[in-house]
Amino acid sequence: MAEKFNRPDGRELTELRETKAKVGVVPNADGSAMFQQGKTIAIAAVYGPKKMHPQHQQDPRTGQLRCEYNMLSFSVSDRIRPGRNRRAMEISEITKWALEPVLMLDKYPGQVVDVHINIIQADAGTRCAGINAAAMALAHAGIPMKEMVSSISIGKLDKTMVVDLTKEEEDYHEGEGPTDIPISMTPSGKVTHMQLDGKIGVKQLQEAVDMAKVACQNILEIQKKALKDFIEGDKK
Ligand code: CDP
Repeated sequence: MAEKFNRPDGRELTELRETKAKVGVVPNADGSAMFQQGKTIAIAAVYGPKKMHPQHQQDPRTGQLRCEYNMLSFSVSDRIRPGRNRRAMEISEITKWALEPVLMLDKYPGQVVDVHINIIQADAGTRCAGINAAAMALAHAGIPMKEMVSSISIGKLDKTMVVDLTKEEEDYHEGEGPTDIPISMTPSGKVTHMQLDGKIGVKQLQEAVDMAKVACQNILEIQKKALKDFIEGDKK
């Protein structure tokens, strides 16, 4: 019998870290949300739809989504240099890809919806937390959406598949080492974003997608509850 794989924080292989979500955390924004997974905390704020500036980027056929992901300098123990860098630019772009397929932006020709994601504390999985927060913030802003998007990182540590990697797990160095597969999905099972950092076979990649499907269903319930709690709180 295979030996049981012990995760550093004692979680089961398919167990999410403690997950919390809250809507309406930035009162001046048109929509906003916080998504926390363990020690990773993302805040998303949505502004718009509004007239696209610079004007030459306006598209008369449709509205556009603009995403900006940023890890704050105090979000990790080694201070990060503030401002744009290649990693932040890449994550901003994949966040846009993950969210765009569910948004009905054709209702806003010539306009833009800005999504600002700030990671205030980072312990891996920040792109997924940012996407989860942004999806809630877009719903809160009232941007018409076909469905929600939920995002999770699936990992392979040596040969064992696990859900929701911590930074300590991302740095695992035994056997085949770590593989990180962030996946974003809609409730109907459409994969809107998938990345792969490491090595994996086809069979285990399918397993990763199946594990993501279950994890994303759990995250969706947390996102929906946060939106419902906000609406009910507003009525009081
Ligand atoms: O955060 P995510 O897993 O989406 O992206 P990553 O590039 O795989 O980064 C993994 C983790 O490394 C981050 O969540 C941070 O905890 C850490 N990190 C860091 O300490 N300093 C950086 N400049 C970038 C990432």
